Amino acid sequence: MIYMSVTIGTPLQASAFKVLLLGSGELGKEVVISLQRLGVEVHAADRYDHAPAMQVAHYAYTLNMADAEQLKQLIEQVQPNLIIPEIEAIATEVLVDIEQQNIATVIPSAKAVNLTMNREGIRRLAAEELGLPTSAYRFADSLESFRAACDDIGYPNFVKPVMSSSGKGQSRVKNFDEVDAAWEYAQTGGRVNQGKVIVESQIDFDFEITLLTVRAKNAETGEIETQYCDPIGHRQDAGDYVESWQPQAMTPAALQESKRIAHKVTTALGGCGIFGVELFVKGDKVWFSEVSPRPHDTGLVTLASQFQSEFELHARAILGLPVNTTRHSVAASAVIYAGVDDSNLSFSGLNLALSNPHTDLRLFGKPEGFKRRRMGVATARAETTDQARELALHTATQVIVEQN
Ligand SMILES: Nc1ncnc2c1ncn2[C@@H]1O[C@H](COP(=O)(O)OP(=O)(O)OP(=O)(O)O)[C@@H](O)[C@H]1O
Ligand SMILES: [Mg+2]
Repeated sequence: MIYMSVTIGTPLQASAFKVLLLGSGELGKEVVISLQRLGVEVHAADRYDHAPAMQVAHYAYTLNMADAEQLKQLIEQVQPNLIIPEIEAIATEVLVDIEQQNIATVIPSAKAVNLTMNREGIRRLAAEELGLPTSAYRFADSLESFRAACDDIGYPNFVKPVMSSSGKGQSRVKNFDEVDAAWEYAQTGGRVNQGKVIVESQIDFDFEITLLTVRAKNAETGEIETQYCDPIGHRQDAGDYVESWQPQAMTPAALQESKRIAHKVTTALGGCGIFGVELFVKGDKVWFSEVSPRPHDTGLVTLASQFQSEFELHARAILGLPVNTTRHSVAASAVIYAGVDDSNLSFSGLNLALSNPHTDLRLFGKPEGFKRRRMGVATARAETTDQARELALHTATQVIVEQN
């Protein structure tokens, strides 16, 4: 028997196949575009109006998605087939209920969304249940237990609120004198005022990668299979990615170990879709760092390097369709920041930025900028990753952000 995937109806009609996107940033925007191309009806939600993905969706909703009541109401109103959480700050207990009652499918699974929103959940799963190699770690929920945890782990170490992302409230603690300040700082960066932090030993890696891992159904059997994109190298600054490139060269043993780790953790999380598995690499040795159960920001490079970008891979996988992770080019991406705190910004110099035929741009259309807010990304293809990085960085700097 050949497996039959979803039937896609007509958008805006009774037969529509409906997707509800929770979080409407730049990564969600590309997912929406991919879904629109397949005739899916898309509903996009965020906490503010005119968020990037809202601008390309059929319907947009502004609400506090961390509020269980508001979220429940929206799901009842939309009656989606699929719910795609694109950010971590969501009332995930609602999604667990929705999945249990078979009201909609949560992408990739309510378990994955629930565990990865909290660093404690995913770290304990990876290290304690699955036995994957990670940095040494302790959890602390008071200044006293935090001091003891730092003492245990040693210096330098990394401190992160368990409920935070994009480097918020995170610091690298170099010695005992910095401990109290790091605690104070962590208390300001958490999503919910829970106060709990993870203290991690510093891994002395050669480089870090994102291994984009896709769980998608086989076209004939309907069995979920795991496929990998080529490893993506990236550079982080203050907990935020500034450039990425694909492929990152690594030893065959390290690549094999990376895939083993990615396979284990994504299988445990379950469901269909793309995962960004963050790994630290030194020679043949690999450590698991964290995983996003959704497209990853460093994966923006795949817009230039693969036949199917991470966004198309995600759209296909969640619809139960087959995927192709093949890379056709060596490429890099470089982030374009607002550089100022202001709304209604303008972007010029685009002709120069795009004068090289191997470059491309995405401007996200965010209504408001601030100094370190990502407003766009430049991509470039070249013979080598070094050349691609240079060209992408050059392209990004040619875009001039102006206040009006
Ligand atoms: N234990 C560690 N050892 C060495 N470097 C680390 C460690 N933990 C974090 N880092 C560095 O800090 C970066 C951000 O850490 P992490 O990915 O845990 O934070 P995040 O807030 O989830 O960031 P993002 O949302 O951008 O992925 C890592 O990519 C790595 O460069
Ligand atoms: Mg990270």
